[in-house]
Amino acid sequence: MFPPGPKGTWLGGNLRDFRRERQDFLTRSAREFGDVVYMRFAHRRIFLASHPDLIEEVLVTRNHDFIKHFALRLNPLLLGNGLLTSENSFWLRQRRLVQPAFIKSRLAGYAPAVVATTERLLAEWRAGEHREIHAEMMRLTLQIAAKTLFGSEATSDTRDVARALQIMQDNFLERFLNLIPPPLWLPTRSNRRFKRAVRRLDEIIYRFIRERRASQVEQHDVLSLLLRARDEEDGKGMSDQQVRDEAMTLFLAGHETTALTLSWTWYLLAQHPAAAEKLLAEIQSVLPGRLPTFDDVAKLRYTEAIVLEAMRLYPPAYVIGREAIRETSVGGYPVRRGMTVLMSQWVVQRDPRFFADPEAFRPERWLEESAKHIPKFAYFPFGGGPRLCVGNTFAMMEMALVLAILAPRFRFALEPGATVTPVASFTLHPVPGVPGVIEPR
Ligand code: HEM
Repeated sequence: MFPPGPKGTWLGGNLRDFRRERQDFLTRSAREFGDVVYMRFAHRRIFLASHPDLIEEVLVTRNHDFIKHFALRLNPLLLGNGLLTSENSFWLRQRRLVQPAFIKSRLAGYAPAVVATTERLLAEWRAGEHREIHAEMMRLTLQIAAKTLFGSEATSDTRDVARALQIMQDNFLERFLNLIPPPLWLPTRSNRRFKRAVRRLDEIIYRFIRERRASQVEQHDVLSLLLRARDEEDGKGMSDQQVRDEAMTLFLAGHETTALTLSWTWYLLAQHPAAAEKLLAEIQSVLPGRLPTFDDVAKLRYTEAIVLEAMRLYPPAYVIGREAIRETSVGGYPVRRGMTVLMSQWVVQRDPRFFADPEAFRPERWLEESAKHIPKFAYFPFGGGPRLCVGNTFAMMEMALVLAILAPRFRFALEPGATVTPVASFTLHPVPGVPGVIEPR
C-alpha cells in the first residue's frame, strides 16, 4: 500500500516535475497529498515525509532501519568514507574521533581566527562599492575553514577551491537529475572535469596533511586534532586516506552551507530595515566599540534569532534523505528495503501548522514564549538524531561573529530591481547571487 502522490510519467515518474520546480514541487506535493507522499524519480521509489513526528521517526526512532540516501553516494570520489557518508560502526568510531574538535573549549580557540579573517575582508571593502555578497561570503567562509581546519591562510588556493566546488556541484546535479546518470568511469567531458577538480582538491588537502605531520609546532586547528586522535578501544589513529576523507568532508560540508546562510541573511536584512536596526542596536549595546569574542556570542540573542529565521526561510540543506536497509514503516505506511524517504526543511519550515505567518521574516518569533512550543522536528536546518550536523555549534558561532563585526560598519543594500531566486541544487542557492552596494554606517 503506497500513500497518495502526484501523477508522473511512465519512465521518469516525477523526475521532470522535480527538475522543473525543485523545492516548489515538494511543497506542492506535500500540501496537496499530505504528510506522507509517494513519488518516483525514474526507478527510485520515494516517500516525502512532512510532519515533525514522522521526521523524528526516521531520524531518531527508526534510524537503525536507514542509511544515507543514494544522492550522497553518487560521487564517492569526493567525500570518500568521511562522516557525512560513512555508516554503522565505522561511522560511530569516526564520529567519536571527530566530535572533540567541536567541543566548547575548542570553539573558543577558533573564534580569534574567525574574527581576524572577517576583519581582513572588511579591510578590502570600500564604501559605495558594488559587490556580489554571496561571492564575498563564500570567500570569507572558505578562508575561515582553511584557517580553523588546516591552520592555513590559503588565500592563493581559494580561487582553485571555489572553481573545483562549482564543477563538482554541476556534476552532482547532472547525475542526480538524469534519468540514466552516466557512470563516473565514462570519460564524458563533465566526468573528466569532475575528476580533475577532485585531484586539485586532493592536492591541496594532502599538502595540508603533509605540512602538519612534518610540523613540530603544536597547532590548534582541526587537522592537528584529527592526526592526534586515537580510538579509545584499540588505540589506533586514522590513515592518511581517512584523515583526507574527514578533512575534505568538514571542508565541503562546512563552508558553503555557512556562506549560504550568511548570504540569505544579508538578503533578508536588506529588505527588513527595522530588523537590521535592531541587530545594530544589540551589537552596539553588547560590544560598545570593540570586536566580539567567543564569550559575547551567547549574549547576542537577537543576532542568533536572525540567523535562525534566515535558516528557517532559506535552509541551505533544503532536503535530506534516508534509504531503508530493511522493511520498515513511516507514518504507518510500509517502506520496503531500498526505498528512499525524503524530509524537506524547505517544506516543513514554511508549514503554517508549525509557524504562524510562515512566509514572513520575523526573527522575534525565536525570542517569544511560543518558540518553546514549536515541535522539535518542525525546524531541522542541521538535521537531527545521531547524524545531527557535527559542526552546528561551530557554524552558529561563526555566523554570529561575522554579523557582529560586519553589521556595525556596513549596511548592505540590494541592487535596485535585482530579483534573487532560491534555486535548489545540492544546496539552496541565491541565483544570480545577491548583488548589491556596500554602504557605510
Ligand atoms: C549553516 C551551516 C550548516 C548547515 C545548514 C549544515 C547542515 C547539515 C545537515 C542538514 C546535516 C545532516 C545531513 C543528514 O542528516 O543527511 C549536516 C551534517 C554534517 N555537517 Fe553540517 N551544516 C552546517 C555547517 C557545518 C560545519 C561548519 C561543519 C564542519 C566544520 C559541518 C559538518 C558536517 C558533517 C561532518 C556532517 C555529517 C555528520 C554525521 O553524519 O555524523 N556542517 N550538516
